[in-house]
Amino acid sequence: MKTLAFFNNKGGVGKTSLLYHLAHMLALRERRVVAVDLDPQANLSGMFLPDDRIESLWSAGGPATAYSVMQPLIEGTGDLMAARPQHVADRLALIPGDLTLSEVEDELSAQWPRCLNGEARAFRVTAAFDRMLRSAGAALRADIGLIDVGPNLGAINRCALVSADFVVIPIGADLFSIRGLQNVGPKLRAWRLEWKDRQDRAPKNLGFELPKGGMQPVGYVVSRYSSHGSRAAKAFQRWLDRAPQTYSQAVLDEPPGSALQEEDKNRLAQLKDYRSLMPMAQEARKPMFLLKPADGAIGGHQAAVLECYRDFESLAKSIEERMGL
Ligand SMILES: Nc1ncnc2c1ncn2[C@@H]1O[C@H](COP(=O)(O)OP(=O)(O)O)[C@@H](O)[C@H]1O
Ligand SMILES: [Mg+2]
Repeated sequence: MKTLAFFNNKGGVGKTSLLYHLAHMLALRERRVVAVDLDPQANLSGMFLPDDRIESLWSAGGPATAYSVMQPLIEGTGDLMAARPQHVADRLALIPGDLTLSEVEDELSAQWPRCLNGEARAFRVTAAFDRMLRSAGAALRADIGLIDVGPNLGAINRCALVSADFVVIPIGADLFSIRGLQNVGPKLRAWRLEWKDRQDRAPKNLGFELPKGGMQPVGYVVSRYSSHGSRAAKAFQRWLDRAPQTYSQAVLDEPPGSALQEEDKNRLAQLKDYRSLMPMAQEARKPMFLLKPADGAIGGHQAAVLECYRDFESLAKSIEERMGL
């Protein structure tokens, strides 16, 4: 299984919506997918599962959520439990998130430096997300593991990203997203180096495989692109024009001027603002590109549904290709 995280330290750039739609599209394309919600806000879980099901998972005990799988390890009463991913659709399962996950931030933060001393427990904790996802992936014979995280550069996200072979960076076309790119690029490089350093100091016979910490950038996705000739669209274009150069320099560490081709090969997709399709999809609890007239997608909406299907199909194809799936 190969793993892919969606990451930007700017929030509200469509990370979670993108992951949700891509997960469904990959599953429709016969890939076996397991997603994990490592954002303590648990928005992804809220998109995949109805509230009553999430509530019963939270109160169930046992390895129902990303947090409860780790709980014995964090509390020092045992090791990681085997996750019990929730079936969402054919070939698609989710390890749900949990607000309580925010409680592991301190522990992950404390164990990171201890890896430098070669302490076994430090590695066990730091590698917990990776082990959770890979063992669930193996049990489900998954081809791809998708990781959703919140918008910050803290210890939870560091461990989440260390478990990612690949990273896609969703952006909006605004100042904050460009700034986000400038932060994320160097951060990924730092985390890669810091993990490598720790990996080299790990004791032998840990009893599990350590994450590789690849975090290879696949490209960026622009979401909520507005194609109208309005003033907002002009402002949008201005920031969009800066993305290729910023991505090339900040994320790929290329020298200035490397991204001056007509077509930016790092731009995986430019997704429209799908407007009312999004709330309709949330209501129907299905991806926008599968909305039917019975879900309210009548008249002109059906053309938008079809266009959305093509957008995500083409995005899924590029990501599969770049991940070597
Ligand atoms: N392409 C899109 N078209 C319309 N609405 C979108 C689109 N992408 C995201 N949204 C909406 O924008 C908001 C933020 O998206 P979300 O996926 O939660 O971002 P993030 O995970 O980066 O915080 C949500 O209300 C979502 O429904
Ligand atoms: Mg999110």
